[in-house]
Amino acid sequence: MSSRAFRVFSALLLAVSGGLAGAADFTGPDSCKGCHPEAYDAWMKSKHARATETLADSQKKDARCLSCHAPDQAEQQLAAVTCETCHGGGQYYSPSYVMKDPELARLVGLVDPSEKQCRTCHDASSPSLRPFDFKEALKAIDHWSAERARKQTRADAPPSTPAPATAKK
Ligand code: HEC
Ligand code: HEC
Ligand code: HEC
Ligand code: HEC
Repeated sequence: MSSRAFRVFSALLLAVSGGLAGAADFTGPDSCKGCHPEAYDAWMKSKHARATETLADSQKKDARCLSCHAPDQAEQQLAAVTCETCHGGGQYYSPSYVMKDPELARLVGLVDPSEKQCRTCHDASSPSLRPFDFKEALKAIDHWSAERARKQTRADAPPSTPAPATAKK
C-alpha cells in the first residue's frame, strides 16, 4: 500500500471502529489550540466562547437556552459554542496526518461551516436588533486571517506554541 493509501485506510478504520464518522467524539477547544493558536485566541475573545457565561445560573440548566448557548453540553460535556460546534467533532480529523489531507479530514468529520448552520441559532427567535447578515457576521468572528497571514509570510512556520503531540512528525 502507498503511504497515502495507508493513511486513508487507517483513518477510515479508526472512524468505522468508533462508530460512524459523523458521531465522532469532541476533543474540546484546547485540543485545537496547539496547532491553531491564532484561531484559538480569536475565538476566545468572541461571544461564542462566553455563550454559557452569559446565562444566569438557573438558565445554565435550561435546555431551551442550552440548545443555542451550549448545544454540546448534554452529549459532549462542552459549554458554549466551540470549534467543534461549527467544524464537527475532532476525534478522527485532528491527528496531524489527517489534518494535512483536506479530503481525508472531511471524509472523517471535518465540516465547512455554512450560512445555513449559523442560522440554526441566529434565527428570528434570537435577541438581535438587526437581522442576521452572514457576511458581516463572518467578519465579526474572523479567526482565520491571522493564521493565513502567518502561513503566507513564513511558508511552513510552525505555530508559536506547538502542542506536545505535534513535536514529532
Ligand atoms: C496536530 C495539529 C492539529 C490539530 C490538533 C488540529 N489541527 Fe486543524 N489543521 C492542522 C493542519 C496541519 C491543517 C492543514 C492546513 C494548514 O496548514 O493549516 C489543519 C487544517 C484545519 C482546517 C482547515 C481545513 C481546510 O482544508 O480548509 C480547519 C477548519 C481545522 N484545521 C480545524 C481544526 C479544529 C476545529 C481542531 C480541533 C478539534 C483542529 N483543527 C485540530 C493541524 C491541526
Ligand atoms: C450553536 C448555535 C450557534 C451557531 C451554530 C452560531 N452561533 Fe453565533 N452566536 C450564538 C450565540 C448563543 C451567541 C451569543 C453569545 C452570547 O453573547 O451569549 C452568538 C453570537 C454571535 C456573534 C456576536 C454577536 C454580537 O452581538 O456581537 C456573531 C458575530 C456570531 N455569533 C456569528 C456567527 C456566525 C458567522 C456563525 C456561522 C458561521 C454562527 N455565529 C454560528 C450561537 C451560535
Ligand atoms: C435559537 C437560538 C437561541 C436560543 C434558543 C436562545 N438564545 Fe440567547 N442568543 C442567541 C443568539 C444568536 C444571540 C446573539 C444575538 C446577536 O447579538 O446577534 C443570543 C444572545 C443572548 C443574550 C445576550 C448576550 C449579550 O452578549 O448581550 C442573552 C442574555 C441570551 N441570549 C439569553 C438567552 C436565554 C436566557 C435563553 C433561554 C431562555 C436563550 N438565550 C435562548 C441564540 C439563542
Ligand atoms: C461559529 C462557528 C465557528 C466556530 C465556533 C469556530 N469556527 Fe473556525 N471557521 C468558521 C468558518 C465559517 C470558517 C470559514 C471562513 C471562511 O473561509 O470564510 C472557519 C475557518 C477556520 C479555519 C480555516 C483557516 C483556513 O486557512 O482555511 C480554521 C483553521 C478554523 N476555522 C479553526 C477553528 C478553531 C481552532 C476554532 C476554535 C478555537 C474555531 N475554528 C471555531 C466557523 C467557526
